[in-house]
Amino acid sequence: MRGSDMHVREQVLYTEKDIKKRVSELARQISEDYAGKEITGVGVLKGSFIFMADLVREITVPLTCSFVQVYTREGEEGSLVSKNILYIYKFDITGKDVLLISEIIDTGVTLSYLVNHLKEMKPNSLKLCILMDKPERRKVNIKADYVGFTIPNHYVFGYGLDNKERARDLPYISFYKE
Ligand code: IMP
Ligand code: MG
Repeated sequence: MRGSDMHVREQVLYTEKDIKKRVSELARQISEDYAGKEITGVGVLKGSFIFMADLVREITVPLTCSFVQVYTREGEEGSLVSKNILYIYKFDITGKDVLLISEIIDTGVTLSYLVNHLKEMKPNSLKLCILMDKPERRKVNIKADYVGFTIPNHYVFGYGLDNKERARDLPYISFYKE
């Protein structure tokens, strides 16, 4: 393992093979559901970049890729002070069938904020696809349409998710065992 500076307690949650299998299943389901349509894929940077790259290559319906980044700043005790959305270059989803692609829902605060903003742009439809769901930590009511894995309350990293900005390049997903 090369994910961290604390190798002793690092434990692999999903191997490269586990992830590949699940991503293929999600892609198959999405391709069926969107048959005859074009998907406007919107990836949430940075954490979704690897998941999105693998997912879109397995989806069989026509698809475009756009990206957003949400900046958050937290105050005391994790309360949110401010959020900003950066829409990356010629972002236009009006009238489109949008599939929002994110790596994880934790408290749900980030994605629900983003979903509300995207809805104001009047897409034809808006669905949410996430690789991992941590329902135990939810603070707001948000449910994804496609979920790769439902996981316990661990801080996970690898496969695009960071551990203090490192470890995004790991091909598997790990966590630190308590
Ligand atoms: P939220 O709590 O659902 O608003 O999640 C905010 C963001 O925190 C996510 O989009 C991820 O970028 C990051 N995040 C949440 N949980 C994890 C984790 O277990 N590992 C790495 N990043 C995480
Ligand atoms: Mg982070």
